[in-house]
Amino acid sequence: MIVVYSSKSGSSKAYAEALASRIGCGCFPIDGGIPDGEQIVFFGWMRGIDIVGIRGIDRKRLKAVCVVALDEAGRFESNKPKVLDRNSVSVPVFYMRGWIDRSKLNVFDKTILLAVSVMMKLKGLNEFNRPIFDAMMEGGSFYDESQLDAVERFCKPSVA
Ligand SMILES: Cc1cc2nc3c(=O)[nH]c(=O)nc-3n(C[C@H](O)[C@H](O)[C@H](O)COP(=O)(O)O)c2cc1C
Repeated sequence: MIVVYSSKSGSSKAYAEALASRIGCGCFPIDGGIPDGEQIVFFGWMRGIDIVGIRGIDRKRLKAVCVVALDEAGRFESNKPKVLDRNSVSVPVFYMRGWIDRSKLNVFDKTILLAVSVMMKLKGLNEFNRPIFDAMMEGGSFYDESQLDAVERFCKPSVA
């Protein structure tokens, strides 16, 4: 098994490297040359309903997908069927919340975030969505490696 990731601002990369270290396997960026053969646990960041980078992964080798995003897990769950369908994923999916480092984003990314933030504000901010709004506008982190526990158990069933 190997871990492969796509990452714009670094949190998917950090999760991917942490999982690879926990289960003792190689970790490779999607655009860095993926070795042939072994099954892949893919980490990809979420943009709208796209799991960025997953199109480049051979579905026959895909063992699990870790989606890294900002939204609350419950909101991802309600969108999950649409996301899986859109990204042609039929293996187990694990969701984890990452970070936004705005210094790594281009104008296009920032424009999308601005549009999403405006929509959120129009719909109304509350104690639940305000931290996400703030992270999109100013940067912020929900990174927490305990969110890897479930995928670690899946990859290495002997872990208690
Ligand atoms: C252009 C853009 C669109 C995004 N769309 C979503 C989204 O639809 N839902 C969500 O929860 N997070 C969204 N995010 C947040 C990222 O998925 C999140 O910050 C993730 O942790 C980034 O991973 P990375 O640090 O590996 O790049 C978006 C971020 C950007 C820059």
